[in-house]
Amino acid sequence: MFPERFSNLPAYAFPRLRALLDHHQPGGEVIHMTIGEPKHAMPDWVADTLAQHVDGFAKYPPNDGTPELQQAIADWVQLRYGVDIAAEKQVLPLNGTREGLYNAAMALCPETKNGQRPKVLVPNPFYQVYMIAAISVSAEPVFVPATAETGHLPDFSSLPADVLDQTAIAYMCSPSNPQGAVASYDYWAELIHLAEKHDFKIFADECYSEIYRDTPPAGALQVARDLGASPERVVIFHSLSKRSNLPGLRSGFAAGGPESIHRMKQLRAYAGAPLPLPLQRVAETVWADESHVIENRHLYAEKYAIADRVFSAVAGYESPQAGFFLWLPVPNDEQAAVKLWKETGVRVLPGSYLARDTDAGNPGKTYIRVAMVAPKSDMQRGLETIRDCLYGQAR
Ligand SMILES: Cc1ncc(COP(=O)(O)O)c(C=O)c1O
Repeated sequence: MFPERFSNLPAYAFPRLRALLDHHQPGGEVIHMTIGEPKHAMPDWVADTLAQHVDGFAKYPPNDGTPELQQAIADWVQLRYGVDIAAEKQVLPLNGTREGLYNAAMALCPETKNGQRPKVLVPNPFYQVYMIAAISVSAEPVFVPATAETGHLPDFSSLPADVLDQTAIAYMCSPSNPQGAVASYDYWAELIHLAEKHDFKIFADECYSEIYRDTPPAGALQVARDLGASPERVVIFHSLSKRSNLPGLRSGFAAGGPESIHRMKQLRAYAGAPLPLPLQRVAETVWADESHVIENRHLYAEKYAIADRVFSAVAGYESPQAGFFLWLPVPNDEQAAVKLWKETGVRVLPGSYLARDTDAGNPGKTYIRVAMVAPKSDMQRGLETIRDCLYGQAR
């Protein structure tokens, strides 16, 4: 016997990609542009800090995070967003944002909303954990298009009032993966008003918040505070994976209202796996430093400039506002990925693998996602190859 609710899932994006490409020979030197795994250097003190605290592996780590890590995170939230939060009550260190985005639904999604099965709003395309979290708590995921027509952000306010009244949670990603779109201050304000009106929570996935061009993206917690919204309205999720090039550290945090964080901690006490102590010690030092983050942004600024130069003559090219993905228009995503692989050895992800089929079709079907994480020269070669192969050498 197996659960019904997971039986209709498509294979995850990366096994699907392997099935699509791996029976073909690559047409040239392989360049991986699929996975969003940062390749810039991690902060140079990580190894020493880890070594200093290695005896911590002999202890069970505190479930709620060390007080020092909680404080480092609260200090960072104050520095970045100007919002004062109580370190002990409003911060929960995570093993990366992915598990937090999942477990938050477990801890906070009610069994019913207004007497009915709750709905969870998910932008489409989206980071895949949102959907599986919704399904796991027996809620109904509602896929809200985030397409070129909507500025690549979901227009939640376009949903019928009865859908919104049944909504328990809206996932929102800004800067967004895969499109690199940024929710403005006004966007957040409108969404928070909508959430107040229809009484749902916003889970704000802000893990790309530090990879931007000039202006730091507004954060949901800051806007909620300015509007005087309920402190329980918003939970934000942040990560060291992208900000600090530490995807393998598995370190992030959730911050929000004391009741929400308390409930998430309680679930974690029963079923969670706290970050090992030495890794918490490393995370604490990394949140406390901005210089490496500024340096990292400079590296991405060079990459944005390269991408803009390479694709300047490509019709429909939209320069990402933030993050490190390009969301490139193509007639057919899988055909484009296969052609690129077979003819050049460049590996990219078909957009439809990051989106859900709906009655209106799959909003990723006419895109490929390209991660700009490889070293600069490889990345530039990869982008030029994509241009020449898919866009008829548009220059
Ligand atoms: C939009 C988005 N959210 C969350 C994550 C998870 O990141 P982590 O668990 O490494 O913090 C990713 C990773 O690629 C992502 O793209």
